[in-house]
Amino acid sequence: MEPVALTEALATFDAVWSPRIVTTVNDYDVRLAKAEGEHVWHVHEDTDEFFLVVTGELTIALREKDGERDVVLPPGSVLTVPRGTWHKPFAAPGTAILLLEPAGTPTTGDAHDPVPDHVDSTTGHAWHP
Ligand code: NI
Repeated sequence: MEPVALTEALATFDAVWSPRIVTTVNDYDVRLAKAEGEHVWHVHEDTDEFFLVVTGELTIALREKDGERDVVLPPGSVLTVPRGTWHKPFAAPGTAILLLEPAGTPTTGDAHDPVPDHVDSTTGHAWHP
């Protein structure tokens, strides 16, 4: 059990939209990801998804019952996307985010639009210092 410095962890990989599991909390992963450009529209039917913006700026497009809207998250902001809500994150260059979700949750959800090459469809990658 050792602390993880997020800035140091971010320096160990370059891939965007490809989360690293930096620690776990009970049955949840704490995932650190670089983000740039568009992710993909997707939905997690059975779990909420928590976002914390570490650096940069993350926008999350949401499909809600009244239509679509964009939520902008500057650094230090958190947002939980409720289960069953279609969403598509997109990010400015240099963005880093921390995600909390149950271990095994795919980044592209249970249903999604076609996944572009720059988006890693994964349940997260192990990270070691
Ligand atoms: Ni998601």
